Amino acid sequence: MAISSSIVLLFTLILFLSGYVLQQRTVHSLQAAIKPRLPKPLPAPKPIAAPSLNVKWARPIGQRVGSDADFHEYIGQQTIDWSRLGYVQVVKEHVELCSAMMVFADLNRLRSPAKRILLFPRAWLQEKEGEAPSSSLTTSRRLLRAVARRYGVVLMPMQTIVEEADDSLPSSYSLASIYSLVEYERVIHLAAPGVILDAGPLDSLLAFSKSQPLAAFPATSERNDISTSLFLVHPTVSDYRKLRELRATEPMSDLNLFRKSFSAPESLLSTWSLSLGNLVYESGTLRDAIDGFNATVFIEATAYVRLSDPELPGPEYDVPYYDRVRLRPQNEEAGAVWAKLYETFRERRMEICGLDLETWTTPVLQAEEASQEEMPEEEKRPGKEQQAENEDLQVQDPEM
Ligand SMILES: *[C@@H]1O[C@H](CO)[C@@H](O)[C@H](O)[C@H]1NC(C)=O
Repeated sequence: MAISSSIVLLFTLILFLSGYVLQQRTVHSLQAAIKPRLPKPLPAPKPIAAPSLNVKWARPIGQRVGSDADFHEYIGQQTIDWSRLGYVQVVKEHVELCSAMMVFADLNRLRSPAKRILLFPRAWLQEKEGEAPSSSLTTSRRLLRAVARRYGVVLMPMQTIVEEADDSLPSSYSLASIYSLVEYERVIHLAAPGVILDAGPLDSLLAFSKSQPLAAFPATSERNDISTSLFLVHPTVSDYRKLRELRATEPMSDLNLFRKSFSAPESLLSTWSLSLGNLVYESGTLRDAIDGFNATVFIEATAYVRLSDPELPGPEYDVPYYDRVRLRPQNEEAGAVWAKLYETFRERRMEICGLDLETWTTPVLQAEEASQEEMPEEEKRPGKEQQAENEDLQVQDPEM
């Protein structure tokens, strides 16, 4: 009797223990799954020689030269305060909002630990008396709620860059508003639309860079000009004022405003930063891919692909099939990557924003189109999201 009951007891114990082990394992994998993914330890800080991108990705990672002992010492002294590091998107017009939201969705999916901030026209919050909001404004308000709720994005209304400018014009707003975010130590701006393939190098760039007014991705491998595809910014009141004052003197594009205010090569990302990988790649460049271009190597080494082909209006527009075929890179591997990036963008735009592609008319037809009534935006989206997003907009607005 005693034996059989101790056998029962033994089996109960074994059963309990195996259940416990199983449960612990599930808890651990759950914890791993929800934990923000912190940047990997730094690669050895060996800058590579100014890369010619296409040649670089046709081969294993290029030749590495030099080293930066100072930098290692510098980061050794750093403690990373993620609450003061962030990714910022600047939206000047309705059509840009979904693309900004998709960048935040990527950061969320890839579990970046940094803050997310969205700058958008303050005019979108104001009700015009006796006037119903336009369908694009209604859509934007819905997306603003969604981006805050789903991806924890801080909503920051921005004013026009020049006082008293027409707040309904996209050209009244500027990337210079990033400099108003003075409570952040460093922020990264990625030019949308695009697809983040790997947030790791971007997080490392945020975490381990020195703060300087501007560190921009170089426009060319000669490093003699800045581009607007990736900015790392240390926002200060003085730079914000300086940019606003210069912009007030005459209308100019953001690129010109930044080029006049920050000189190259001092305001470029360091060669160390560029050695983190292919930080930004423009999709149009895939057309220059040479024999031996390897899609697997490209995708693994690239952090952000900006979807920008000079002949195309952008991935958010529906472009006729023949135009797409004509522009697809000739190189087979590069062509496949290119087509996949555009297709993924289209699918995720529907998933994330509930929006179809925008209709695109060739420039010749646009004049006619403009005289017609504004077409209501077509939307398809699940009903349950709608309800949760009907609450009030929560915005952070120090200026109000
Ligand atoms: C691309 O590179 C990967 C990894 O280096 C390799 O396994 C694969 O075979 C290459 N593909 C082609 C088509 O060369």
